[in-house]
This record gives sequence, structure tokens and C-alpha cells, in this order.
Amino acid sequence: MESILSFLETHKDRYLRELNEFLAIPSVSTHPQNAADVRRCADWVAEHMRIVGMENVQVFQTAGHPVVYGDWLHDPGKPTLLLYGHYDVQPAEPFELWESPPFQGTVRGGNLYARGAADDKGQVFIHLKAIEAIIKNAGRLPVNLKLIIEGEEEIGSEHLESFVSEHKDLLKADLVLISDSSMFKKGVPSICYGLRGLAYMQVDLVGPNKDLHSGSFGGTVHNPIQALAEIIAQLHDKNGRIAIPGFYKDVLPLTKKERAAYRKLPFSEKEYARDLGVKQLYGEKGFTTLERVWARPTLECNGIVGGFTGEGAKTVLPSKASAKISMRLVPNQSAAKVAKLFEKHIKKLAPKSVSVTVRSLHGGEPAITPIDSPGVKAAVAALEKGFGKKPLYQREGGSIPIVVQFKQLLGIDTVLLGFGLPDENAHAPNEFLNLDNFFGGIRTSVHFLHELPHYMNGRHR
Ligand code: BES
Ligand code: MN
Ligand code: MN
Repeated sequence: MESILSFLETHKDRYLRELNEFLAIPSVSTHPQNAADVRRCADWVAEHMRIVGMENVQVFQTAGHPVVYGDWLHDPGKPTLLLYGHYDVQPAEPFELWESPPFQGTVRGGNLYARGAADDKGQVFIHLKAIEAIIKNAGRLPVNLKLIIEGEEEIGSEHLESFVSEHKDLLKADLVLISDSSMFKKGVPSICYGLRGLAYMQVDLVGPNKDLHSGSFGGTVHNPIQALAEIIAQLHDKNGRIAIPGFYKDVLPLTKKERAAYRKLPFSEKEYARDLGVKQLYGEKGFTTLERVWARPTLECNGIVGGFTGEGAKTVLPSKASAKISMRLVPNQSAAKVAKLFEKHIKKLAPKSVSVTVRSLHGGEPAITPIDSPGVKAAVAALEKGFGKKPLYQREGGSIPIVVQFKQLLGIDTVLLGFGLPDENAHAPNEFLNLDNFFGGIRTSVHFLHELPHYMNGRHR
């Protein structure tokens, strides 16, 4: 262990150089024009898996972007860990808001800035370097390991579910580990035990069959933008609750224990509001901010388009208006069920003066993972050694759709070990990974791989 940890210390510069190669590939999964970059990134991941000592490395084609697999399976007496992550990233636009180029890793103030630095290339790379340090120094890993790094997480992991169900034997394991979330705050490591789900919808309204002169026709037909605004305005009630009938029916209430635990966390609503530049926070009445973001469902309008939006003025009564509306879901809501309720309600709200279509773009199920499992105990021990501090337990508001599918298809529980930070600007300009978290993450990963067999074999404690 000593030689592994000192190896880490002496290779820090190389780690940054290599991670920057990974970050330089614009693997934006949603952009068709980046498809070749996504492919090149999959090949980079595969090559790097081989470099760090993984075996049977393969790039699997799917109907979408490739999945990269590699393993190291040498000890049938030891547990098998399945490590999941994603090499695709969100678009970097708007480019002009970046202080340094998004696809050129740049260190400023102890942070590494680039698209994907935290979500999720940096966190995938953390584990690759832990694996490398162990294999280079000890000649072998303390567990059996399988890696599956996908290229479609940011677009809903559309083809991963069928990949998993078609490769059940290949992916067979005792535990899944995912590093694609955040620590509670800087210097405060955490174990995440819950993620929200997602139902992402598009609503299209059509009024008149063409754009009209707003003088000649204004006052004769319902402007679809107005109709859309009227619909959207009815989706929440005065208490910030979602006004779709049946929406809350399957919501798992927070337990008393959870509510008490969240209140003890080092969190200030005032500071939170200040950091976000708002005078007042907003959300469902009767719940704290942490409760709302971790354990309550929400409905957000992600974008509205319609009519004239260019420079200057144009007097037009538009033919069409659209909105992208997503709902974050909590256990035990189902994405498909909620999508149906949403569609039914929108159709009911829509006035006769316009025609409306509702489509589901993608979905993912919410997840709760056990916190008293051997895997979590190993993670607690590893974080304590890697960061010198006991982690706390939290949930997250984001979604990782595959977590539930690993449980349903393979019967495997997941441990969520995040090395990002809540203010890391994921999906936004100036995304960063904190370098203390980067190096602490590599140490933690090394410790986790060593702790796991003790806990999983039930020999320990
Ligand atoms: N890494 C995030 C998930 C996440 C975000 C976990 C915040 C914990 C905290 C992931 O890459 C992501 O962005 N997921 C999407 C999923 C969606 C496209 C189905 C999300 O949450 O919007
Ligand atoms: Mn991610
Ligand atoms: Mn993401």
C-alpha cells in the first residue's frame, strides 16, 4: 500500500497531462456532428484501459454510441466489482461564457476546468489511475473488476439497457460502483444513496396554419404562445406543488429519520440563495431546500420556442409554439406512468382554439440504494482513508438511469461515490473538477478496491 500511495504522489503531473488528452476529445453525445469524436473517445478509453492493465478490452457498437468494456478477472475467490461511468459529455455551448476553451483542460485556482472534467471523464479517469497504480506496484488487483464506460448517458442511456440485457453473463458482478455525482461540499465527502428519475416531454401547439400579420389577424385567433403560457402556468399550484392529478400518488414520503438527518447537515439556505444570485428560494411548501432537491419530485420548463425571437421587432402572430418540460421523479414513481399522466393533463388543459401534441423524449427511473450494505461500508472506510474524514449520507437531485436497470436486469446494488462538487458547473460553462478531489479520489479508489473483499466476504467486522 505504501508503494502504491507514493507512486500516486510522484505521477500527478502525468495524470493531468493524460486527463487533458481525454478532455480534449469533444465527445458530445447529443450532437450528430460529433459522432466521430464520440467514437474516437471510446477508442481512447479502450486504449487507456489497456495501458492501465485491464484485459479483454472491447469497444462494443450499439445502435447508438459505443460501450467500452474491459475486465481483470483472476481470483474466483474474490468479489467482482462492476465499475460504470460515461465518456460522453454535454454540449459546451454557449462557448463565449467559458473563461478558457472547454476542450482544453486548464488549471486555475486549484481546479481543472473543461467540459467533462467532473461529469464524468475526470471521475472515470480517477478509477483508471487507481487501477494502474495498483497493478504497476502490486502486480495484481485485490478484487475482480469489470469496467463498463458508455457514451450515451447524457442522452438518457438509450441503448445501454438492451446492451446490459444482452450481456448479462459478461456483466455479472457482486456490486456496481459509480462515480458520477458530487461530494456534499468541499472537504466533506459523502455517500449518495438516492437519485431522482426523469420524464422528459415535449409539448407542441399549433394555432393558425401559418404565421399571420398580427395587425390584420390579432384578435381573431388564440396565439399558441399565449395558450402554451396559460397551460404552463397551470402546472403548479400556489404552494409550488405539481397540479397534475395523480402525480404524487406513488411518491415515497421522506422518513422522520431522513428529515432529522438532513436538518443536521452543514447547509445554509441563505448561502445557497446567495451563491445562485436569487433574493429568495422557491419550491414546494412544507419542505426544506435539501428535501426538495433530493426527495421531492419537480416539474421544470427547460425551454420554450415560438414566434419571432431575433433582433428588433416583427409584428407576427405565430402559427406554432413548443415547450420542453421535464419532471424529476422520486421513488416509487414510474417514468412511463408519469409521462401518461402528464400527456392526459396537458390535453385536458389545452383549449379548443389550438391543437396540441405531447411526446415523451426520454425517461429514467428514480433510485434508492441500500446504505447498510457491505459495499457502502467499504466505501465509508475508503473515503475516511482517502479524504481523512468520515463521509455523510446524502441523496442527489440528478439522474443516472442505469442504476435501476443494473438492479432489475442483473440483481446488483450500486454504491454511488461522488468526487464532484455541488458548484462544479456540470452541464454549464466553466465546468471544473477540484484537484484535491481528483487526487483524493484516486487514493479513495485505491483504498476501496482493497477494502471491498474484506467487507464482501463477510470476514471483516
Ligand atoms: N452525473 C449526472 C447525474 C447526476 C447529476 C448525479 C447531479 C448526481 C447529481 C449525469 O451525467 C446526468 O447529467 N444525468 C442526466 C440524466 C438524463 C439525461 C436522463 C440528468 O440528470 O439530467
Ligand atoms: Mn454524469
Ligand atoms: Mn451529466
